[in-house]
Amino acid sequence: MGATKVEGFLARADVALLASLEGYRIFAGSPSYDNCAVLMGRPPLSEIIERYCGLVEETSGLRLKSRYAHLRHYTRGGTFGLHQDNGGPTVSVSVTIAYPGGVDPWPLEVDGEMYALAPGSAVVFDSLLVHGRRKSLRYDWHRQLILHYARNAPGGLEAPSGTAP
Ligand SMILES: [Fe+2]
Repeated sequence: MGATKVEGFLARADVALLASLEGYRIFAGSPSYDNCAVLMGRPPLSEIIERYCGLVEETSGLRLKSRYAHLRHYTRGGTFGLHQDNGGPTVSVSVTIAYPGGVDPWPLEVDGEMYALAPGSAVVFDSLLVHGRRKSLRYDWHRQLILHYARNAPGGLEAPSGTAP
C-alpha cells in the first residue's frame, strides 16, 4: 500500500482537543525517542482511533481493526529514530497536531520520502516501511498523534504488543 499523505485528515475539533490535552506520563520503554512524553490507551484516543478507522480503510484499501494510539509531546532535543512498526500493526497513521510557528520544520520521513505536515494532516503508511526523523527537534515542542490498525480478516490479528514505537 505504500504511503499516502492526507491533508486535513483529522477534523479541526479533534485537532483542537488533542492540542489542549495535558497530563502525560513519560514513556520509558523504547530507545526510539527521547525528550518525549506519551499518552496512550486512554480516552479520547480510544474513541478517536475507532472513529477514523473508516477513513484509514478508504485510504489504504484494506479492511482494518483498531489496535492502539499514542499522543506524543516532544520537547527540544526530542528524537524519533528511523524504525519499522514490527509486531502487530498493518497500517500506521502519523498525524501532526500542533507546533509553534507556521510551517512544519520537522518533517516525517517514510520510505525515504519527506513529509511536512500542517496540523491535522497525516501520512497513512504500511507499518513495515521505515519511518522516523533523522534530526532531533530544534524548536521548543511538537505534538503528534500516531494511530495503528491491523488487518481485519478471519484469524488475522496478531498478539498486541502495546509498546511498539
Ligand atoms: Fe513507528
